[in-house]
Amino acid sequence: MRARNHPAQVARRGPLDEVDDRWTPHDLFEDADRRFGPFDLDAAASHQNALCARYFTREDDGLTQPWHGTVWCNPPYSACANWVEKAWTEWASGRARRIVMLLPANRTDLSWWHRWIEPHRDAAEAPLRVVFLPGRIRFGRPGQPTPAKGDRPPFGLCLIVWGV
Ligand SMILES: C[S@@+](CC[C@H](N)C(=O)[O-])C[C@H]1O[C@@H](n2cnc3c(N)ncnc32)[C@H](O)[C@@H]1O
Repeated sequence: MRARNHPAQVARRGPLDEVDDRWTPHDLFEDADRRFGPFDLDAAASHQNALCARYFTREDDGLTQPWHGTVWCNPPYSACANWVEKAWTEWASGRARRIVMLLPANRTDLSWWHRWIEPHRDAAEAPLRVVFLPGRIRFGRPGQPTPAKGDRPPFGLCLIVWGV
């Protein structure tokens, strides 16, 4: 599979929303909602794919809005670092009670992981926990809300949980 939102491509011409716009399967979301929710806010959404009654779209820009309550976020994977940094800001502000972010589990070598996650995760007293999910999860996409067979990204996923 050829990368279409590689950091160099994104730096040159911006992200392709058609690549970023991947929808969490309902069973995964419901499982997370039972375990860590109920979620009040979907911080990265469109009118078609929002998973909570309250949500921010690209036009609202969830990166510049305050996040309140228990927050779900499956961010655009072309900008994981910005979303992880934003989650820390919201967590530190005390506005967010808990934040759960669905991220690719194959970016653990990148500088943002080592700045924002690795030093904090899973230690005693740390607010941050990483839950690695089994298997290769199929996402929905615009026009195909129920994931198509075989339409899987070439990486596993993890949940980053602030407020364990
Ligand atoms: C990976 S999809 C998530 C879809 C669904 N809400 C979910 O949780 O599975 C990311 C969504 O965030 C939207 N998005 C992109 N930039 C955004 C921004 N700055 N603020 C809020 N949403 C944004 C995209 O249009 C896309 O619909």
